Amino acid sequence: MAFEDDLKRTRIVPVIVIRNAAHAVPLARALVAGGLNILEITLRTEGALDAIRAIAAEVKDAIVGAGTVINGDLLNKAVDAGARFIVSPGLTEDVANTARARGVPLLAGVVTASDIMRGLALGLSSFKFFPAETSGGAPAIKALGGPFPQVRFCPTGGVSPGNLSTYLSLPNVICAGGSWMVPSDLSQEGAFVRATEMARAAHALAQGMAVT
Ligand code: 3PG
Repeated sequence: MAFEDDLKRTRIVPVIVIRNAAHAVPLARALVAGGLNILEITLRTEGALDAIRAIAAEVKDAIVGAGTVINGDLLNKAVDAGARFIVSPGLTEDVANTARARGVPLLAGVVTASDIMRGLALGLSSFKFFPAETSGGAPAIKALGGPFPQVRFCPTGGVSPGNLSTYLSLPNVICAGGSWMVPSDLSQEGAFVRATEMARAAHALAQGMAVT
């Protein structure tokens, strides 16, 4: 599966909240320059779909997707705007079936064995593990690997440079998502330079290199 190969290569998905649509393209360029090219734009703000559209059109090296996709209608809008993958905080038949109908990869959020069993029944085998830190973190993901050896996880929610390697060292974790490499105020001077630096440090950590 091509998208999973991309995830395995980069291993980190920045989770992005765009409050000003004008920040979308420079932020995407800054993160790509730091080595992170799989970008999740959360559909939590008014300009989110425009941000996806702009990044899809203008940042060729980015693989842009939509997050916070909580129903099939939003999923359709995201794909129409150019989203190449979908992330949802939870799992519903509506989201899973619409993703399949649109032919777009989906990381649906799960925490429990029952969630995973519903996902498997809907044809999914890779999931977002959300919210990761408050749902048992790495030990929970490791334990779920017992009954579900075929399942892969992308933990998100509370992932930081301090716990990233613990997650990524698990054999059933393909990547981790997080917002720590995106400065909270992008209108501040130097914010995009800092985004590149933090992306580069995160990328280096994920590749198992020392961060200098
Ligand atoms: C989210 O949905 O906001 C993501 O899980 C990001 O979580 P984080 O801000 O803890 O990285």
